[in-house]
Amino acid sequence: MKTALYPGTFDPVTYGHLDVLERAADIFDRVVVLVAANSQKEPLFSADERVAMLRRSVRGRRNIRVDVFDGLLVSYAKRAGATSIVRGLRAISDFEYEFQMALTNRKLNRRITTVFLMPHEKYTYLNSSIVREISRLGGNVSQFVPPHVRRMLTLKHRPGTRRR
Ligand code: COA
Repeated sequence: MKTALYPGTFDPVTYGHLDVLERAADIFDRVVVLVAANSQKEPLFSADERVAMLRRSVRGRRNIRVDVFDGLLVSYAKRAGATSIVRGLRAISDFEYEFQMALTNRKLNRRITTVFLMPHEKYTYLNSSIVREISRLGGNVSQFVPPHVRRMLTLKHRPGTRRR
């Protein structure tokens, strides 16, 4: 049973993340999407909200699980029996940061291999900050995130808005 972890902040999950996740789920027997609870980024959504949005996004996918973690990624990997970490590589600008994380994680546990997957090119420019910014300013994010995530963004930025 080959288990991979797909960690991130997911504040919120986007179609770009889901594209990477689909590819990972085709390769590995089991993928655990891991939400970093205490991200240094001061997320807009709580960990519970980020987990809930992800769970709804992957509903029906039998080999994908969503969990939350707080601590070292390699420690979680050891507990879960995972030997791979999946990360999306969108552009060259991602490379240096990802390279450092992959090598650090390998230094911490040499059995853990990071696998980079490229999302569809239509998502290479996408990240969660852009989505949050567009939504905050009242723009339409329906091409970037699933409908339930769009509704959560609207509620966060305009709490008086009725749920549709
Ligand atoms: N599509 C769209 N956006 C994507 C994407 C994709 N395929 N892949 C990455 N992104 C975006 C994210 O939305 C995020 O955007 P934002 O910064 O605007 O919010 C950005 O790229 C990168 O974020 P993410 O992939 O979520 O990674 P992260 O840097 O937030 O998370 C952890 C890093 C949590 C995985 C890492 O810090 C970690 O493992 N922490 C645990 C502690 C630990 O073990 N530390 C040692 C590791 S070396």
